[in-house]
Amino acid sequence: MDYRKHIARLIGNDSVTESDIVQAAEGHGDYALPCFKYARDLHKAPQVIAADFAAAMKNDPIVSRTEVAGGYLNFYLDRVAVVSDVIGDRASGGGIAAVRKANAGKTVCMDYSSINIAKPFHIGHLMSTAIGGSLYRIYKYIGWNPVGINHLGDWGTQFGKLLAAYNEWGDKSRPLTLGDMLSLYVRFTEESERDPGLAERGRTEFLKIERGEPDAVATYELFKSTTLAEVNKVYDRLGIKFDSYNGEAFYNDKMQPVVDELKQKGLTEVSDGALIVKLDDYGMPPCLITRSDGASLYATRDLAAADYRAKTYGFDKSLYIVATQQNLHFSQVFKVLELMGREWAKDLVHVKFGMVSYEGQPLSTRHGHVVFLSDVIENTVAKARAIIEEKNPDLPDKDATAEAVGVGAVMFFALGTQRIKDVDFNYDKVLSFEGETAPYIQYTHARCRSVLAKADGIGAADYSLLTDDDSYAVIRLLSSFDDVIVEAAEKYEPSIIARYLIDLAQAYNRFYIGSRIITDDKPLTAARLLLTKTVADAIRTGLDLLLIESPEKM
Ligand code: ARG
Repeated sequence: MDYRKHIARLIGNDSVTESDIVQAAEGHGDYALPCFKYARDLHKAPQVIAADFAAAMKNDPIVSRTEVAGGYLNFYLDRVAVVSDVIGDRASGGGIAAVRKANAGKTVCMDYSSINIAKPFHIGHLMSTAIGGSLYRIYKYIGWNPVGINHLGDWGTQFGKLLAAYNEWGDKSRPLTLGDMLSLYVRFTEESERDPGLAERGRTEFLKIERGEPDAVATYELFKSTTLAEVNKVYDRLGIKFDSYNGEAFYNDKMQPVVDELKQKGLTEVSDGALIVKLDDYGMPPCLITRSDGASLYATRDLAAADYRAKTYGFDKSLYIVATQQNLHFSQVFKVLELMGREWAKDLVHVKFGMVSYEGQPLSTRHGHVVFLSDVIENTVAKARAIIEEKNPDLPDKDATAEAVGVGAVMFFALGTQRIKDVDFNYDKVLSFEGETAPYIQYTHARCRSVLAKADGIGAADYSLLTDDDSYAVIRLLSSFDDVIVEAAEKYEPSIIARYLIDLAQAYNRFYIGSRIITDDKPLTAARLLLTKTVADAIRTGLDLLLIESPEKM
């Protein structure tokens, strides 16, 4: 709960708004109002203004005391009132219910993962998949209606080449795999250097797919279903879902109206036979609409896709969770849509993220340094299993726990850092039980659950027993839970939740080390158990928004 609005109201001065009030520095109460910026208008020194504001404030059950310190006015909240408020709200979900009500009926489209057919699902795709999957849950939590879209890369001349290669060398006696498709494609590229006729065959096969010839289409569909069957295994393991798999091919018959409209609105020019939209005025190179041979381009499909999403879902926001490398592409597409007069162009957001390296090495599909996401998950889970075996050999259900810890570690790797930053995947780092990691948070959660399992029920709690500094620090963090989720949604930044959960786990552990929970003192035991349960539930909800499970035992 954020008391800043309440404090602003108590001050009762129009020039002081909620956003002027900040979290107080350690030892200076709960909130503070820096008064420096009012000095000019009010012709008074900041400390005088602070004192004036304090004097004008009414008595209040929550804000129990104020203090003028330099140019700051500090606010001390009544701890018992806050504890009661926070515990009550966490149990009833009253705060989040209001947020959900305000967001009811809003739709957000999310384009994430968006893998390419017949290409490896590598660790580079992890970021889009994890950020999108997490934002999906976050938006749902705050009451929006999210639409998850996997904009498959399922169109392009490469499918003609692959088809030619498959007809030539494919082993039709056994089921095709993603690995087969990769090697067929590599072989095609190599052999076409020696045999120029091969390239021609690739073009012919692509034409067949384009014309919809049954045999060609059936094989193309086989490529698609084979890829999807493999990536779906990874999605299942990560808890990722989509509402639509409409990819690039889906827009084949939906681009002409866009091209016609662009022409009719006088936005296009012909340059070397290609149709382009010039964007010089906006400091960008032209957006390519059709090539000189008439073929459409990536951008054309995205224009048609944006229109389709606007028409089909009537979105309030439409997100594209795609690496920073595609900055220019999205800036161009968004600008062209704006020039076409789409009033919703302002609601399109490129949610970008930095690069992933693996154990210190950059990834490059082209230069053969491919690290499959499924292998990374498999390895992390195996290592988690080994750690559990060493730390807690008697744990029941070790496999399920290892899965939760391993997958959680991979997810936290993707979601734990501000998305714009480059990140390096390192097994020891992601699996550490001590650092700022998923296992650390999961372990704290399991610690809470094991305390709760030892107690028999939670008696009536006296909130005044949770006002000591360690307990109150936990309470203060709990009070901002819903605000943190809302902020993560607004900034498209799951790492805000990750950071928060680390802080919450650390604060709880400080409390745990300093205070015995189950003692002969019944009311104190009840109060501490209640705090423990509230923390455990908050961690579980928070981790779930990061696609991470919370095992009961670890
Ligand atoms: N398939 C593309 C790639 O792997 C990403 C597609 C992103 N979404 C979009 N609507 N362009 O690079």
